[in-house]
Amino acid sequence: MKVKVNVLKKQISPSHYLTFEYEGEPDDSVAKLLRYYNEEALSRGDEQIAWECGCMINKCGACAMRINGVPRLACSSFLYEYEEGKIILEPLSKFPHVKDLITDRSAVFEALKRVNVYHAGPVHQDEKNLESRFESASCLNCGCCLEVCPNFNSGQNYTGAVAAVNGYRIAAAADGKAQLKEMRKAYAKHYYEGCGISLACHDICPAGIPVEDLISRSNAALVWGRRV
Ligand code: FES
Repeated sequence: MKVKVNVLKKQISPSHYLTFEYEGEPDDSVAKLLRYYNEEALSRGDEQIAWECGCMINKCGACAMRINGVPRLACSSFLYEYEEGKIILEPLSKFPHVKDLITDRSAVFEALKRVNVYHAGPVHQDEKNLESRFESASCLNCGCCLEVCPNFNSGQNYTGAVAAVNGYRIAAAADGKAQLKEMRKAYAKHYYEGCGISLACHDICPAGIPVEDLISRSNAALVWGRRV
């Protein structure tokens, strides 16, 4: 299968697209074609494409980028999904740009800190919510949910769905009232009051997390004070 690939090179003004052709198997991933390009570029002495990866198996979120305008993971996006033979790679647009396809996603981790997403005391393990806590812990912190959120802009206070998804397992497992009190205040201010319920985050999650369900559970626990 042959595809034409366009990679946005943004750091050189004016921005331009690097274009090349890649011929591979339909189940080759976008990550594989980037690695192939870089190996060839290295042997030619050309500049490589800057991009990030870690696990290459849909587990770390490092390879998040816009693929044909949609935030996705390069290691779990495959050529057969682009039958028209054209792939456009661009960096995520809601985060500070670093180089080529790399952005600074530290806003994701700042969002977690802002709503106190950490265990501050004994952990209450409840078999009833084990599955939901597991789903919450499956978040890759890739930033795709924030990329599509109409209310999120890095550098501002609104945390986006990443805080609700991850906040759930902390709220569900927290035994200390003091932590929950602090977390409720921060959650209301930095997440709940800013969410416009577009739920664009629900459909985009590359980890397949039921984002809407975890938002509902977090709201129940952290806004209405229910044990969920
Ligand atoms: S490299 Fe880890 S999710 Fe893609």
